[in-house]
Parts: sequence; C-alpha cells; structure tokens
Amino acid sequence: MKRIDLRSDTVTLPTDEMRKAMANAEVGDDVYMDDPTVNLLQKKAAELLGKEDALFVISGTMGNLLSIMTQTRHGDELITGRNNHIITHEVGGLAALCGVMTRLVNNDNDMIYPEDIEAAMRPDDIHEPRSVLVCLENALSNGTVVPLEIMKKDYETAKRLGLNVHLDGARLFNAALALNCDVKELAACADSVMFCLSKGLGSPMGSMICGTKEFIAQARKNRKRIGGGGRQMGHMAACGLVALDVMTKRLHEDHDNAKYLAAELKKIQGVHLMSEPEISMVFFKLDADEAKFMSLCKDAGILMNPSDRGVYRVVTHVGVEKEDLDVLIECIHKAL
Ligand SMILES: Cc1ncc(COP(=O)(O)O)c(C=O)c1O
Repeated sequence: MKRIDLRSDTVTLPTDEMRKAMANAEVGDDVYMDDPTVNLLQKKAAELLGKEDALFVISGTMGNLLSIMTQTRHGDELITGRNNHIITHEVGGLAALCGVMTRLVNNDNDMIYPEDIEAAMRPDDIHEPRSVLVCLENALSNGTVVPLEIMKKDYETAKRLGLNVHLDGARLFNAALALNCDVKELAACADSVMFCLSKGLGSPMGSMICGTKEFIAQARKNRKRIGGGGRQMGHMAACGLVALDVMTKRLHEDHDNAKYLAAELKKIQGVHLMSEPEISMVFFKLDADEAKFMSLCKDAGILMNPSDRGVYRVVTHVGVEKEDLDVLIECIHKAL
C-alpha cells in the first residue's frame, strides 16, 4: 500500500536528481566562503529575487531569526500579524534571541494593510520602544496569498515611516505562481526575504535569505554566532540548485491537485470547504466523527494531521498524485 502523506509539504523527499547532485557536488569550507556550490546557489538566489546578495541557512526559522536579528536591536519593536509563523511557530525566538518586542496586527484574514502599519507605528516618544521592522508573510500560513498591490503599498508605507520590511516567503514561489507574478516583484516589496528550498521545492533542508550585501554580511556573522556556519554545505546546496532550476517549474501541479481536491469536496454533502485553494493547501470541515475519519485514513495509508478545532488541512506536493487524493475522497465518503 502506498503511503500518502498529506500532512505538509515539509515531508517531501529529495528527488533522484537531488540525490545525484548531492553525491557529485564540488564542495569546500563554507565558513571560509569557498564552497563553490554554496556560492553558486547564493548567487542564483540573489539574481532570481533581484537582490544584491543571498545566504544559505539551515531552515526557514533560522532565516527569519537572522533577518530579524540583523535588522533590530534589543528593545526594538516589530510589527507583524498575530498568526504569522514567526509568532506562532518559531518558539519565541525573536523574543528569546533578538530581545525584540512585537506589535501584532489582528485581521481575520491575517493580511497586513498599510493602515495597520500606520496605526502600529510608535511615535517618537521617550516612553515608547522604537518601531523598526515590519514582518510580512506570503503565502500566508492559512493558504491564501497577499495581493501584490497590498504588498507594494505596505512597503511604500513602511519606507515612508522609516521602517524596514522582512518578508517570510517560506512559500514564495507558490505565492508568485498564485499571483501570476515574478518572485522579483514580491521580493521588491521587502528589504530582506526568506524563502525555503525545502517544502514544496523538495530539498531535504535549507532556506535562503536575500537582501543587500551589507545585510547579508552581517547576517552571515550572526549565523556564525548562533552556530549555523556549516562547512561542506555544498552537498546540501546542490539540492537547492535542483530546487531552483527544476522544482520551481512543477509547483503548478500541486496547485492544480489542490484545486481538483477542492472541486471534488464541494460535490460531497457533509464537507465544508473553508475557501478556494490559492496554493497547495486545502482546508475543510467534515460532518463526521474525527476518530473514525482518522482511522479510515490510517487504514488507507493516508497520513493526516488531526483537525485544528474541526478544520482539516491537506497539503499537496511532489509526493502526492491526483489518484492519492481519490483515496482520501473515498475515506471521506466512508466516514460520512
Ligand atoms: C510561513 C512559514 N515560515 C517559516 C517556516 C519555517 O520553516 P522551517 O520549517 O524550515 O524552519 C514555515 C514552515 O513551515 C512556514 O510555513
């Protein structure tokens, strides 16, 4: 029986091409900055995003942390959304390791609008912390994308107020695909950008942060400080190159599969689709007993996360075929 893992796009396995690239990579000591494969990956990532420079880091969490650390001082405040990944899923790293306060935007759709930034900006007052950074996310963790126009206006507003902008673009390529724009256009709405090579792009590990040369030089120092300076990292960077060259070009398959699943779910009485999928994520409620549904899934070889207050999330990725989604649909019918 095939194992069908619908829990997340983080479960993707390296492709054969990645495994070969890993084995054959030309490597060096990346702390000395002489690993040619890492250097090539960083050059490519910077070019793709239209930024001066880029840095290869272990994870999206490390990329966000270093971006915040490099653009803030202890006691500073950043503005972000209450459900952004840096708030809900990064173990309070920005407080624990950067000493940064947060001012949270509270919109139901998790977007941040220019007026939210204006309202959250602290006045120049002896009593108040210094507002320094806005942290945006696109695609959002709720599976929606922030329109480019909003990103542009957010950036203009932040710059007018003297703030820097960091973009958590863990799924930047999914967002650009859904918005039918170039990743450069999204990257132009931020001073620093993090995107993941793992997740939908299939690398076993790694994320990139991109920005000015000065920002990257300081982030590299901070990466060393937190123990993230790797040595023969080219073996991993080689997968990142395949991710950029090959895997970015197939993401539409995951989006199409998510749309297929949503269309099928809409036909079933007792299934409530939360919204039309915009990237590779489908959210739905089910008028069926959760334990029964989960057990049916398990028996069919499907790995699903338990619901979040009744809402299930399915994530499509390179390891999921359309037929696998039919197996899920069958389980839903049985559970109902
Ligand atoms: C929006 C967002 N940002 C950051 C991350 C962190 O990435 P990592 O798991 O590589 O630390 C994730 C992970 O799922 C994410 O969804």
